[in-house]
Amino acid sequence: MAFVTRQFVRSMSSSSTAAASAKKILVKHVTVIGGGLMGAGIAQVAAATGHTVVLVDQTEDILAKSRKGIEESLRKVAKKKFAENPKGADEFVAKTLSSISTSTDAASVVHSTDLVVEAIVENLQVKNELFKRLDKFAAEHTIFASNTSSLQITSLANSTTRQDRFAGLHFFNPVPLMKLVEVIKTPMTSQKTFESLLDFSRALGKHPVACKDTPGFIVNRLLVPYLMEAIRLCERGEASKEDIDMAMKLGAGYPMGPFELLDYVGLDTTKFILDGWHELDSKNPLFQPCPSLNKLVAEKKFGKKSGEGFYKYK
Ligand SMILES: NC(=O)c1ccc[n+]([C@@H]2O[C@H](COP(=O)([O-])OP(=O)(O)OC[C@H]3O[C@@H](n4cnc5c(N)ncnc54)[C@H](O)[C@@H]3O)[C@@H](O)[C@H]2O)c1
Repeated sequence: MAFVTRQFVRSMSSSSTAAASAKKILVKHVTVIGGGLMGAGIAQVAAATGHTVVLVDQTEDILAKSRKGIEESLRKVAKKKFAENPKGADEFVAKTLSSISTSTDAASVVHSTDLVVEAIVENLQVKNELFKRLDKFAAEHTIFASNTSSLQITSLANSTTRQDRFAGLHFFNPVPLMKLVEVIKTPMTSQKTFESLLDFSRALGKHPVACKDTPGFIVNRLLVPYLMEAIRLCERGEASKEDIDMAMKLGAGYPMGPFELLDYVGLDTTKFILDGWHELDSKNPLFQPCPSLNKLVAEKKFGKKSGEGFYKYK
């Protein structure tokens, strides 16, 4: 599964310390850990922009599904990009797929990678265990980045010995379409790491923005309280969810209403984020629990993905 020859590994390790202290890291080889919704999207975009990618997940079955999803998504991209040139579209899909290899063993592939992007389950302990292990196997110059939406990047960085080469790289769903990447700098992230990640984001065709390691970064810090306010407005009986959605689409120009967006993001995910913030700052009125959100999650109504949330999708 390893895609880099021993010779490359040797040359990387001998020159890595000097290179790391001399200039920004030009990311060419990327390891994406977690082949779910986000990881598959990140792998796809990285491969489509000329990077060599290893996608890692727990089983071959999951990886086969990720690969199939990537292929389908690439076909849609290619259909638009090469509307008049079906042969070009096929070549683009085949070339991009050939740049993605897969593995179920992250430790065995990170020795030759410039950047590890972690997009596994949103659990601090599981992520910390992964980073701690990979820290021992990755090359000296390798940058570690987490795509976490709600966990502190500093807590993750502290599980490694490379806090200066650790940052947040927060993509948005669906990754192939959403242009934004939030690049999160902890107090320990070096300027070189930060700038290397800005360059990498631009190389993916994304627009990076910078943010400190603060709960929710920029987008979720503004978006989640807004979504909660919409639920509270409805809970107080002041307007229906249908009218709130219509109002925000027609009055504020938002592409989706807050309840539609909640169902799209996932009610379990939103509750997880809100609960985490409430734990950090229990007096903040914006972070107070929402009874109707909790009720739907307890009933396993997670939104679009489960067939029902605030709306029904069956
Ligand atoms: N879903 C979103 O809209 C969104 C947006 C931005 C950021 N994020 C963040 O991205 C991360 C992933 O989210 P997702 O929605 O893609 O989740 P997901 O459940 O779709 O995928 C997670 C994948 O990680 C794999 N995995 C779990 N533990 C692993 C391990 N130890 N090693 C290798 N693979 C492992 C799982 O098998 C699964 O395929 C989370 O941290 C989440 O907060 C999600």
